[in-house]
Amino acid sequence: MPAAYFGAHVKPKILVTRATFDEVIDVLQERFEVEHNQKDDTPWSGDELRRRLADKDGVLASGADRIDAAVLDTAPRLKAVCNIAVGYNNLDLAVLTGRGILATNTPEVLDDTTADLAFVLMLAAARRLTEAERFLRAGKWRGLSFNLLIGVDVHHATLGIIGMGRIGQAVAQRAQGFSMRVIYHNRNRVSKAIEKQLGAKHVSLEKLLKDADFISLNLPYSTANHHLIGAKQLALMKPTAVLVNAARGGIVDDAALIQALRERRIAAAGLDVYEGEPKLNPGFLDLDNVVLAPHIGSATGATRMKMAQLGARNLIAALAGRRPPSLLNPEAWPKRRR
Ligand code: DGY
Repeated sequence: MPAAYFGAHVKPKILVTRATFDEVIDVLQERFEVEHNQKDDTPWSGDELRRRLADKDGVLASGADRIDAAVLDTAPRLKAVCNIAVGYNNLDLAVLTGRGILATNTPEVLDDTTADLAFVLMLAAARRLTEAERFLRAGKWRGLSFNLLIGVDVHHATLGIIGMGRIGQAVAQRAQGFSMRVIYHNRNRVSKAIEKQLGAKHVSLEKLLKDADFISLNLPYSTANHHLIGAKQLALMKPTAVLVNAARGGIVDDAALIQALRERRIAAAGLDVYEGEPKLNPGFLDLDNVVLAPHIGSATGATRMKMAQLGARNLIAALAGRRPPSLLNPEAWPKRRR
């Protein structure tokens, strides 16, 4: 006879799509019946996700789990979709809202860590670090040479930041330590006080592309900025320019970037994200002037823990009928599924 028959408390069922900290799973297990992926950490296909979500009340998802109408059609009990990611372009927010399903992300806790990685990519691309390491490991070093692996200076250069939200601002803050001149482009100008504090000047996108020595993309992906950086924009950049993308794949037209890098129409790039990742356009692999990382912008132990904890707090609140701290679709709140 089922426990519920005797009036025992039946725990809500949740899915955690990717492996995360055991401590976080333990906290969730106190409140929920948890199906997780701790052992294998296999990325699940849309079909697999659909199957596993069919009887769930909530899901703790990664930014790589596409959650759209097709997945939601077979998840009638689902009340909350909580990303362990600040980006949420994997979620069809309009569909979630229409169905009264709460959606959340994990903002703020990863700003500094992601800004650090943008700087790592900038410095590594400018100083040809990964190329230098490949050279060394291949046993090609024959001793000091005045023209070996000559790079460009980051200090005192002009940094153009596209997307001046929290992460863009954290990048600008770091640029001050390198005595860089900072220009930025953002849909909305940030306050004068922030501009002053960061020593940052708002310019048009075209001016930024023409003037910057380094260009850092720090904006979220949306269909409106798909291929914001394509052949036309790359053509405006200096031949010495370095492009850094620690934001999202799809903002850059990868094929156009590969061509520009191959023809040395820009000097170099540092990339953490790609169109259609984890697949990589093979054109990148033949190039020396690009530093490649596998989407590790927020990948430090401390930050990943904060992200997982915030994701869990969001899910716990949502399923307890409380407004989650990082609610993305407040319009869904009044009509939320119960
Ligand atoms: C984020 O938080 O959006 C990172 O890109 C990890 O998905």
